[in-house]
Amino acid sequence: MKFFIDSADIEEIRKAKSYGIVDGVTTNPSLLAKMEKGRDETVKDILSESDWPVSIEVISTDTEGMLKEAYEIAKLRGNAVVKIPMTLEGLAATKELSSKGIRTNVTLVFSANQALLAAKAGASYVSPFVGRLDDRGEDGMQLIRDIVQIYQNYGLETEVLVASIRSEEHVLQAALAGAHVSTVPMKVLENLAKHELTDAGLEKFLEDWKNRKK
Ligand code: E4P
Repeated sequence: MKFFIDSADIEEIRKAKSYGIVDGVTTNPSLLAKMEKGRDETVKDILSESDWPVSIEVISTDTEGMLKEAYEIAKLRGNAVVKIPMTLEGLAATKELSSKGIRTNVTLVFSANQALLAAKAGASYVSPFVGRLDDRGEDGMQLIRDIVQIYQNYGLETEVLVASIRSEEHVLQAALAGAHVSTVPMKVLENLAKHELTDAGLEKFLEDWKNRKK
């Protein structure tokens, strides 16, 4: 499973990159709006940081507007992936972009039927939001299992990019379900590497080494 960092903070992204296990970046308008440098500068910095795929979302809601923005985003650098909201207008834009070889990530997906449509439109990635479903008492991970199954049934090549991840358990379940990508906030990414027995074991090894017979 690939790991993307879900962030628009370049310092955080660089730190995540330094761990050597991150394969890409996802941003969204809410994350970019918080950045002092402004959207365009921030996006350029993230794109230049590596050749990894970086999802950048359009703001327009009509197909024509989405396409205009998408062409601008795609021109920025070869690793830009255009993030398109899961609407009928967004599906039309996705179809057009995929026919031109421009990579897309269909976002704000909350049902398996939406994911099926996104794949039919030629999306490179589909982003189901598990945390937001859990927040309202639904089972976000069941959605991932359903999408993976449906894509397998029909040999669809769209990659399942699990989004709105809130915990290490979400990552584990995404991997068990066979999702292609998990996009994770920094805190979750760092927590994945931790275990109290690792810390305790390391401490003991170092102590024993320090007290070795000389
Ligand atoms: C990533 O593509 C999504 O925009 C992000 O994971 C959403 O996460 P949230 O539900 O925690 O805002």
